[in-house]
Amino acid sequence: MSRPRILLTGANGQVGWELRRTLSSLGEVVALDSRAMNLADTAAVRQKVRNIAPSIIVNPAAYTAVDKAESEPERARAVNAVAPGILAEEAGRLDALLVHYSTDYVFNGSGTTPWREDDVCDPLNVYGATKLAGERAIQAAGCRHFIFRTSWVYGARGSNFLLTMRRLMRERPELKIVADQIGAPTWCRDLAEATALVLSQIASPARSFDQWGVYHMTHAGETSWHGFAEAIQALDETLASARLLPIPGCDYPTPAQRPLNSRLNNDRLEQAFGLRLQDWRAALALCVSER
Ligand SMILES: NC(=O)c1ccc[n+]([C@@H]2O[C@H](COP(=O)([O-])OP(=O)(O)OC[C@H]3O[C@@H](n4cnc5c(N)ncnc54)[C@H](OP(=O)(O)O)[C@@H]3O)[C@@H](O)[C@H]2O)c1
Repeated sequence: MSRPRILLTGANGQVGWELRRTLSSLGEVVALDSRAMNLADTAAVRQKVRNIAPSIIVNPAAYTAVDKAESEPERARAVNAVAPGILAEEAGRLDALLVHYSTDYVFNGSGTTPWREDDVCDPLNVYGATKLAGERAIQAAGCRHFIFRTSWVYGARGSNFLLTMRRLMRERPELKIVADQIGAPTWCRDLAEATALVLSQIASPARSFDQWGVYHMTHAGETSWHGFAEAIQALDETLASARLLPIPGCDYPTPAQRPLNSRLNNDRLEQAFGLRLQDWRAALALCVSER
């Protein structure tokens, strides 16, 4: 059987970087960064997809600057809302599968129950609204697709809470950290491995599959940003001198409002694929040990 051609966007992002490796076990990966394919240029995106003619498109690229999106809504919309729809249309023409990533920020953060895939979406900020619009554009295009909603993504490279905290804990004697927003930190490597596992399962010739759609995909367990910071500190004695003060989100104003409850219920992923990501603390320890 010939190996599928997989078009990967955002290949230098946190998740994209890890997907380069995990997807290569499944097929021929054509990995494009934002210079090779600018998602804000719809004509170029269509042309590129048609030239490459993949049987799977994996799209971790996104405008992820949550606060900046408040003042650049059109740029965020082009990448997060319009481009996924174009990719989905092109996937439909090729009868290709589209794998896309979305976010806990599609929810308004009310309550304390983990959100399920079919709960009502009500984003609080521009980033969340544009990501939700991207989900809807994919659904409207009607191609086979997976939308993996994840949260609080970090890894050993890129721009993320883990690396920012490690730097600040060295630079400052005291840090104030939000303690009333609850979610699950998710290691980009495990997200990429889970994606490849899902794809390998549906590629199995013995399996006829029809459960396309939205899946939540985060590590097990939950914490606050303050709890996440404490766990980062506990894994490295050279960070021990910084005092970590818990504060409410309202004492740390940002341009974009964040949800208080970012918990995602991952049962659907387990039911469909027998897959549950490990506890966030174990993943964090592994990530830090590999740096
Ligand atoms: N980070 C999080 O905490 C988080 C939480 C929930 C969900 N997610 C979702 O998970 C997915 C992966 O996130 P991530 O953390 O890996 O993001 P990331 O590290 O910020 O990477 C995003 C990638 O998108 C690319 N990109 C941005 N604008 C582009 C454009 N116009 N054309 C082509 N590529 C463009 C960037 O390329 P350049 O670097 O070249 O600009 C970058 O490589 C995204 O869908 C995101 O919305 C992330």
